[in-house]
Amino acid sequence: MLIDGKATAAIIKQEIAKEVEEIVANGGKRPHLAAILVGHDGGSETYVKNKVIACEACGFTSTLIRYESDVTEEELLKKVEELNNDADIDGFIVQLPLPAHISEQKVIEAIDYRKDVDGFHPINVGRMSIGLPCYISATPNGILELLKRYNIETKGKKCVVLGRSNIVGKPMAQLMMQKNYPGDTTVTVCHSHTNNIKEECRQADIIIAAIGIPNFLTADMVKEGAVVIDVGTTRVKDETRKSGFRLNGDVKFDEVAPKCSYITPVPGGVGPMTICSLMKNTLSAGKKEFYK
Ligand code: GUN
Repeated sequence: MLIDGKATAAIIKQEIAKEVEEIVANGGKRPHLAAILVGHDGGSETYVKNKVIACEACGFTSTLIRYESDVTEEELLKKVEELNNDADIDGFIVQLPLPAHISEQKVIEAIDYRKDVDGFHPINVGRMSIGLPCYISATPNGILELLKRYNIETKGKKCVVLGRSNIVGKPMAQLMMQKNYPGDTTVTVCHSHTNNIKEECRQADIIIAAIGIPNFLTADMVKEGAVVIDVGTTRVKDETRKSGFRLNGDVKFDEVAPKCSYITPVPGGVGPMTICSLMKNTLSAGKKEFYK
């Protein structure tokens, strides 16, 4: 069965918009998300544009702050401090990657964790890992939401996470092993130095592919009836498209799909859910749900 991330995301945005209108009707504040975009990376431009559009769909106020790629670290940190202290801004993000002369870690740690709707600050990462209320990184949270909405069983299953990045692989592994649904799986994390990746994958009931290599997961690596979640979004040249490229997942979809009980497509699977999770975090920020 195909997991429709696009349709699920549309439903969730409607749910958020409804709640926002109730909040505003009761005299509450409309949630406000700010995004900082540095430079003109094509992927980042698209993501941020889609985040602004999603804010509109949810009834949020949004502010886009742009810098050229020669902005200094000092200037960027000053803006972060300004947003930290701006009572009208409920949450904000700094779109990654940043130019090489700026320390991403320094910028992330400068963000007030109470406004860190990306969930990248060490306080949020730490709280997530011990199961405390916090902002959870958007892609893993979007995947949990898909598992929930499709009632996919997880308890006692064997889950293989391909990839160990700070924003997807690591938090995904933590969340899939947490007590409660959708978790309680036995997790194996595979990466570029794993021996026998194929064997690990073949034993998995659930495979979450976030390795960033197009078509990495092939049919011979997948057990019959497995659930396959494709996080890959590599841009590959495609002259037949107006944009000149298309997004390619980490899964060789055509041959893997027939073996799966559930699978996410690229595009239209995890991608739309990621932005949706950011919207949920922004709503939580507006409601001061996790932190006063
Ligand atoms: N770059 C790739 N994914 C993300 C994300 O979720 N948030 C931010 N800020 N930058 C990203």
